[in-house]
Amino acid sequence: MNTDRITNSNFHTLSIESIIPDTQDAVVVRFHIPSNLVDAFTFTPGQYLTLRAQVNGEDIRRSYSICSSVNESSLAVGVKRLSDGQFSTHVHGLQSGDTLDVMPPQGRFTTPLGGSHHYLLLAAGSGVTPIYSIARSVLENEPDSVISLCYVNKTIDSVMFKTELDELKDRFMTRFLLTHLMTAEAQDVTLFNGRLDREKLDTMVTRGLIAPTSYDAIYVCGPEAMIKSTQQAMLDFGVEESCIRFELFTSSSTHAPRTPKDNEDSPVEGAEVHVILDGSQRSFTLPPDTPLMDAAAKAGLELPWSCANGMCATCRCKLVDGEITMRQNFSLDPWEIDAGYVLACQVQAQSEKLVLDFDEV
Ligand code: FES
Repeated sequence: MNTDRITNSNFHTLSIESIIPDTQDAVVVRFHIPSNLVDAFTFTPGQYLTLRAQVNGEDIRRSYSICSSVNESSLAVGVKRLSDGQFSTHVHGLQSGDTLDVMPPQGRFTTPLGGSHHYLLLAAGSGVTPIYSIARSVLENEPDSVISLCYVNKTIDSVMFKTELDELKDRFMTRFLLTHLMTAEAQDVTLFNGRLDREKLDTMVTRGLIAPTSYDAIYVCGPEAMIKSTQQAMLDFGVEESCIRFELFTSSSTHAPRTPKDNEDSPVEGAEVHVILDGSQRSFTLPPDTPLMDAAAKAGLELPWSCANGMCATCRCKLVDGEITMRQNFSLDPWEIDAGYVLACQVQAQSEKLVLDFDEV
């Protein structure tokens, strides 16, 4: 086994320019980007940053969507504190001048800029973070584009970027159509009370508030249940599957091994894994109940990962040789699986030897 450490893990230590409270439990963390890293941290609206810190001696990382406009020189993410969130609690305790390790922007929930579009954006809670970046970047850079945003929260106090969204409405009065839905605070218009479920979408379509087939694309960011019901509703309304983009917005808390279900193939014991990363090939052994990232780390290899739960695709790589099953996959499209891409964090070896290529993007 080669125990050399792969040093290009893509993390850069960035200084925090400011941490500003946004709601009672959310802050906006703004990073200073030094001139030598400007290219590396150039992003497309909708992408996220993976942040890393040592918390109580443990390497913890989380992905947070970028909330800046592409026109800003610094990069900001919105971080909502979760009651059991080790990482978010750590971040809320930081102050300007502190540093965090940050991976360059990633993610495919993106909107390339240019041309003229009408996008429908649907967000719930802190799922608005990438949506706000998309809305603002599109409005500021595509003079003829229109954004319709429907944003769900419990109460008005929990609305992230409330001031910024109001300002956006004032700046782009005819091109930014904003609808707030509240689940725990009554609004004057009954239609705007409650969740964004199938019934609500049906009513919004019937009343002409949204016209699903008229948009160039529909972006959805929120919890899994909302994404699934919205996706199905849009398909039923006749929207092409390729026009629906979604980002699962759930914080990971663990990547502990899971007990295989009865109908799953048992993983091979002690598979030999060869990894190609940054032009080098390294090898290690993968015990059956061990996450591949942990086995790699034990062997001194730092592979790219963030959520460890199959959601972000930071660990996407190509299976060049061997057979695997994935514990779960919330991020790879069917064409990617057909092309041999896998999520390394979810790999269970089904053959004695695996070759995973992280350079094949
Ligand atoms: S690290 Fe997020 S899908 Fe593997």
